Amino acid sequence: MSEESADLTPPQHIAIIMDGNGRWAKKRLQPRFMGHRAGVKSVETIVKRCIERNVAVLSLFAFSSENWRRPSKEVTLLMELFALSLKQQVKQLHKNNIRLQIIGDVSKFSASLQKQITQAEQLTIVNTGLIVNIAANYGGRWDITQSVQQLAEKVKTGEILPEDITEEAISAGLTTSKIPEPDLFIRTGGEQRVSNFLLWQMAYTEFFFTDTLWPDFNGTELDKAISSFCQRERRFGKTSEQLRDNK
Ligand code: IPE
Ligand code: IPE
Ligand code: MG
Repeated sequence: MSEESADLTPPQHIAIIMDGNGRWAKKRLQPRFMGHRAGVKSVETIVKRCIERNVAVLSLFAFSSENWRRPSKEVTLLMELFALSLKQQVKQLHKNNIRLQIIGDVSKFSASLQKQITQAEQLTIVNTGLIVNIAANYGGRWDITQSVQQLAEKVKTGEILPEDITEEAISAGLTTSKIPEPDLFIRTGGEQRVSNFLLWQMAYTEFFFTDTLWPDFNGTELDKAISSFCQRERRFGKTSEQLRDNK
């Protein structure tokens, strides 16, 4: 791809699979939990850098619908860390004009964690800066399924017809319906897979993989991903010539 055809528009929405916490801890002969704790620090760093880079939405995969399969002690510690981080960070996020949103099936969380989530979302709902979208008990297949189920209910009541189940209608029922689709997807920790993250929403997202473990991921690393993104040509099915001639 030639330099001049590069898309220099920075990503509006960055979605990250924050992977590698466990291996980071293992390398230091520490329990996995220490890696998760160190990972929270990276979240703070990356949120700051996203604000500096004028990113509109940052989506972070914190806990997948498959992560319940981990040893129950790790799951409990992750839930506690989530609750503690919310408690410690919400005021600061609010001060920084950040809007916090949680996507995922939160009904599986404890009542107190659910309450904390609702309070954090309500407190920051008025904010107009960066949207931080935390995916917790999230699965891409779950998201699509719950959207289609809502539509099926409407078909049942006669509110809509089967042919009204369009791509737009399915998109409108997703947990991310109010935010743009991710422009750039980053996965740290060396694995090159999507692990049931934003499946529908990433149909045209640019992917960036790095071996850096999440607790080591920092502003410079984010900048590398952003500059890689800026050198790509997003064709959305068209040809380079069409893009150049604006057709
Ligand atoms: C990502 O790090 C955090 C969560 C999935 C909660 P991992 O815990 O998956 O770390 P690795 O992949 O085992 O190193
Ligand atoms: C994906 O990481 C989920 C999160 C980072 C929250 P995993 O470590 O759970 O993914 P797999 O199991 O290796 O695909
Ligand atoms: Mg992992």
